[in-house]
Amino acid sequence: MTHANPPLIEFSHLSTHFHTGQGIARAVQDLSFTIRAGETVALVGESGCGKSVAALSLLGLVAKPAGRIAGGRLLYRGRDLLTLAPEELRRLRGNEIAMIFQEPMSSLNPVLSIGEQIVEPLIEHRALTPRAAWERAIALLAEVGIPRPGKIVESYPHELSGGMLQRVMIAIAISCRPALLIADEPTTALDMTIQAQILDLLQKLKREQGMALLLITHDLGVVTELADHVLVMYAGRVVESGPARTIFKQPAHPYTRGLLASRPVPGQRLRRLPSIPGQVPDPARLPAHCAFAERCSLAGPRCRTGIPEAVDLGDGHQAACVLCRKEE
Ligand SMILES: Nc1ncnc2c1ncn2[C@@H]1O[C@H](COP(=O)(O)OP(=O)(O)OP(=O)(O)O)[C@@H](O)[C@H]1O
Ligand SMILES: [Mg+2]
Repeated sequence: MTHANPPLIEFSHLSTHFHTGQGIARAVQDLSFTIRAGETVALVGESGCGKSVAALSLLGLVAKPAGRIAGGRLLYRGRDLLTLAPEELRRLRGNEIAMIFQEPMSSLNPVLSIGEQIVEPLIEHRALTPRAAWERAIALLAEVGIPRPGKIVESYPHELSGGMLQRVMIAIAISCRPALLIADEPTTALDMTIQAQILDLLQKLKREQGMALLLITHDLGVVTELADHVLVMYAGRVVESGPARTIFKQPAHPYTRGLLASRPVPGQRLRRLPSIPGQVPDPARLPAHCAFAERCSLAGPRCRTGIPEAVDLGDGHQAACVLCRKEE
């Protein structure tokens, strides 16, 4: 049977490992999900859960030789990304699949003007003349809501605020009209008002350009408005996934419940609700059972008898927890 909207991206049992002095760090384990055109999928979880490594795997940017794809497949419009020639992968990157990296400051070049950095992909992927590319750069800055784009195009990164720099990063990422935009913590370093503006901008771009979005964040609040589908990652694995509304209204996994309970209280920036005790385990020392068991107030002996399989809870909602098992 053919689906009216076939997958743009398919992660299929993907595992990404790093060889470290401490042993093999299993940063991403058995990750499977799809993103269709125009859809927003959010990857959420605490720091170190494997969100960025999953995105970097997709772009073929896992640091070698320590890092490698240890198993599984990655498809883009049905094409196997893991066997693409480096040249072909480079052509996809920044063109059809673009990414806003987690640290905007370190991905902009301090000695090049904003304009020079925006025209680079346009000249490389779209073969625009330098003059046409410069005009396009100004139009892109206007599109991402930067005032006086004709002036800003000539400025340097250190002259702009964090919120403006994030808009510049978005302008660069969307310059070639990608089919998929990966936004890795696009608002983390920004204050609340600017955060809301950046999320509105992503929403607008998605609507106008029909692009798909892979939104990466540790903040479940950020995904509420934007995401269609949410994947909650813990220690490299998806522990719960489903339609965004279901994840918020009926979280099934104790980890997701803990994340939801530790969201900041709206309007009280400094007050946080109780967070989950303990820490994310070292990916080089993962247990052979549920990695969340050590932090889970509900964990019992059954939780220490192997990696829990995803249980289907209906309507595309799944949780990998033995306590969520449906009665047979
Ligand atoms: N180059 C590397 N070498 C060794 N380990 C790595 C490397 N890159 C990532 N890791 C490990 O992989 C795990 C997942 O990292 P990742 O950056 O994907 O986390 P994350 O979910 O994006 O966290 P954050 O919210 O802090 O960005 C971490 O334990 C990290 O230390
Ligand atoms: Mg990250």
